[in-house]
Amino acid sequence: MLTTLIYRSHISENFPTDALKDMVFAANSKNGQADVTGILLFNGIHFFQLLEGPEESVFSIYRHICADPRHYNVVEIFCDFAPKRRFGNAGMELFDLREHEKEAVLQSVLDRGTTRYQLLYDDRALQFFRTFVEATEKENYFEIPPAESWAFVSDGNGVEMDNAAADITRECSFAFQPIVDPLAQKTVSLEALIRTPAGESALAFFNGRTGDEVYEADLSSKSVALAMAAALNVAGQTLSINLLPMTLVRIPDAVDFLLAEIKANGLIPEQIIVEFTENEVISRLEEFTNAVRQLKAAGIRVAIDHFGGGFAGLSLLAQFQPERIKINRELIRDVHKSGSRQAIVRAIIQCCASLEIRISAVGVEKPEEWMWLESAGVSHFQGHLFAAPAFQGIPAVCWPEMLSDI
Ligand SMILES: Cc1cc2nc3c(=O)[nH]c(=O)nc-3n(C[C@H](O)[C@H](O)[C@H](O)COP(=O)(O)O)c2cc1C
Repeated sequence: MLTTLIYRSHISENFPTDALKDMVFAANSKNGQADVTGILLFNGIHFFQLLEGPEESVFSIYRHICADPRHYNVVEIFCDFAPKRRFGNAGMELFDLREHEKEAVLQSVLDRGTTRYQLLYDDRALQFFRTFVEATEKENYFEIPPAESWAFVSDGNGVEMDNAAADITRECSFAFQPIVDPLAQKTVSLEALIRTPAGESALAFFNGRTGDEVYEADLSSKSVALAMAAALNVAGQTLSINLLPMTLVRIPDAVDFLLAEIKANGLIPEQIIVEFTENEVISRLEEFTNAVRQLKAAGIRVAIDHFGGGFAGLSLLAQFQPERIKINRELIRDVHKSGSRQAIVRAIIQCCASLEIRISAVGVEKPEEWMWLESAGVSHFQGHLFAAPAFQGIPAVCWPEMLSDI
């Protein structure tokens, strides 16, 4: 299928711009052999390239381009299918924006067009050209340093639960994972993640339970989470516990149960955040919202987990505002390389800033993901990059340290 891919990137310092013409010459011939056509814009700092051709050929050339050290921060901004090539005449043609007026470049680009209609109507690809040439999105190009600029150094401060406390975990158990502010080197919260007594996943814990058993097990497991947190001595820490939204709706007095357990374990409501994992439709939204009000009235803060995935969409924010949202891993994965994820995450950040809702990014695994998100304004992170969940314990945290010789 005829595929169009557009990316932008930043030229490397050690790539002299007078070598550009040779690079384009080689690219032109290589693209020609692969039946790929396209156009390359360069503004002295950034490249913007459109590639079009058979899907496999475009992706294969793009993989080579991504690995090319002559540029970095390569961000895919558009990938789509089209009936005809927009620029079918040349394997690769360079437009150096420093040599032309903006309007002249756009006109020249249009003149190279090989489809009669697409370039005239509301063509998304062409809109990206326009935005690049007019540099209206430039403040959103977060230029991040290479991953190797940081070392992640363990603080060695892990804690394990002692044997005496192990009898709390007969029915279920928990792993704890910190949510951290890496630049402030501070743990902002600990999340209790449910496990079977043997340490298997949440899925294994809920497996085999049906109907209301799921919600009953969900709620009663919280007494184990709170008791374990107390045994791990989390006094003064904020503790995040997960609850299925329907647990609050299906189980009468669920909020009173939670409050009693918090008190019984020597904790206070203000240090608890209840995270709602939205993997089912909240069918009784009114009752759910009422229960959330009860939680908030008692001093418990509320977070929406997996925001942006499944049912946890923007409309949930219209119904009630949590103190915090956790951006879904699907949106975080390789965010530094994906223009669409970047646009969505920026919109979430902007929306939450207007609503004074704190954001954490979940499932952060790569230094580049963290750096991009920090640049975009996120400061709280959870993920294996900093600390994996520790079964029946609190893990040591790996804090980033800038390596000065890079
Ligand atoms: C901004 C930029 C654009 C490039 N465009 C292309 C291109 O369209 N086609 C191509 O074959 N190589 C292009 N290259 C060069 C590739 O990155 C790579 O050097 C080339 O495909 C040879 O790859 P190989 O040495 O791994 O075989 C580009 C490089 C840069 C820095």
